[in-house]
Amino acid sequence: MTARIGVIGCGWWATRAHLPALKANPDAVIAGIADPDPENRKRAAERFAVPPDRVFADADEMLEKAELDGAIVAVPHSAHAPLARAVLRKKRHLLLEKPMTIHPPDARALAALAEANGVELIVGYPWHYSRQVLAVRDAIAEGRIGEIEYVSCQFASIVRELYRGNPEPYRDVLGYSVNPPGMRTYADPEIAGGGQGQTQVTHSAALLFFLTGLKPVSVAALTESFELAVDLADAVVVRFDNRAVGSLGSTGSVLPGQEEMLEYRIFGTRGHITFDVNEGSAVIYGAAGAIDRLPAPPLEERYPDWAPADNLVDVALGRAPNGSPASLGVLTVEFVDAMYRAGREGRTVPVGEGEMVR
Ligand SMILES: NC(=O)c1ccc[n+]([C@@H]2O[C@H](COP(=O)([O-])OP(=O)(O)OC[C@H]3O[C@@H](n4cnc5c(N)ncnc54)[C@H](O)[C@@H]3O)[C@@H](O)[C@H]2O)c1
Repeated sequence: MTARIGVIGCGWWATRAHLPALKANPDAVIAGIADPDPENRKRAAERFAVPPDRVFADADEMLEKAELDGAIVAVPHSAHAPLARAVLRKKRHLLLEKPMTIHPPDARALAALAEANGVELIVGYPWHYSRQVLAVRDAIAEGRIGEIEYVSCQFASIVRELYRGNPEPYRDVLGYSVNPPGMRTYADPEIAGGGQGQTQVTHSAALLFFLTGLKPVSVAALTESFELAVDLADAVVVRFDNRAVGSLGSTGSVLPGQEEMLEYRIFGTRGHITFDVNEGSAVIYGAAGAIDRLPAPPLEERYPDWAPADNLVDVALGRAPNGSPASLGVLTVEFVDAMYRAGREGRTVPVGEGEMVR
């Protein structure tokens, strides 16, 4: 059995992660690609040997004409909601890139539509497929550190020039193997919906919720753009549904050639966990001095960027569950939206309920 997958958006990420994953997957066929940009479309078709009758300028036309079991939407953030809706209306399984949407009502509507139409909506968070992440998640779920009371998360990444609309300096470090990111994709607030919040806090927050099962209920935040049109540095304090409190900080200011960082410190009533995701170091500190160091995954497994597309194939073939479900995407969109509101309004705001609809 083969899963027939269509790819909407053939920019940097689709050509760097999703199309190579599909091409290498013996159980997948690239059944269509769609992109209005003729150059990006042409380079993607050539690199991944997509026949001309499966190459479309218009996503709706591809959804109409190509025979698909599932589709991937990897377009700029502001285009996520309408294209995802088009796929779900066709009752196809969907891998939708992060952030699921910019606005929470859109994310909730997509999750409801997927459920109503009996298809899976996977949100593109590769870390949720790391075996080490899953082991830390299991340890927490098994109660190894008891009830969580305090968390902190630090995420520092190489993004500043993308926010300036200047992707070229990152060609090697971010690996533009076929197409570079569009100049406005991460820099234009109307298209991106924000900077570090929409592009990176979405990853670190989703992973925190995925690891711990905690749900944020209120946040206070400071965000700063410096010389840019979108935020570069974000600092958030959070209260969770079980009364735990925590902080998340993130900056896109790491220089090329330096290591990015993603670190969690999770403290419970019976112990704590330190997890350096990029280093592959996870240590569980339990009662009576017990220390459990989880094995470090090989370098190539630390950011399994092909895993979401492979999961879509498995979901379409009915042989795996959704590893990064829509409910988590919705929660994360609500969280990032609350972060921006809290920053703008200078007060603690609820997550989800009572948010501003723009
Ligand atoms: N999960 C990750 O680690 C990760 C990494 C990078 C990017 N991303 C996400 O992937 C998405 C795409 O980012 P990118 O860097 O590849 O952007 P990009 O600018 O390189 O590519 C976007 C592509 O979408 C196309 N497009 C725009 N409107 C379209 C439409 N209506 N139909 C079809 N195609 C359309 C553009 O022409 C362009 O080719 C974003 O949501 C981004 O946040 C995720």
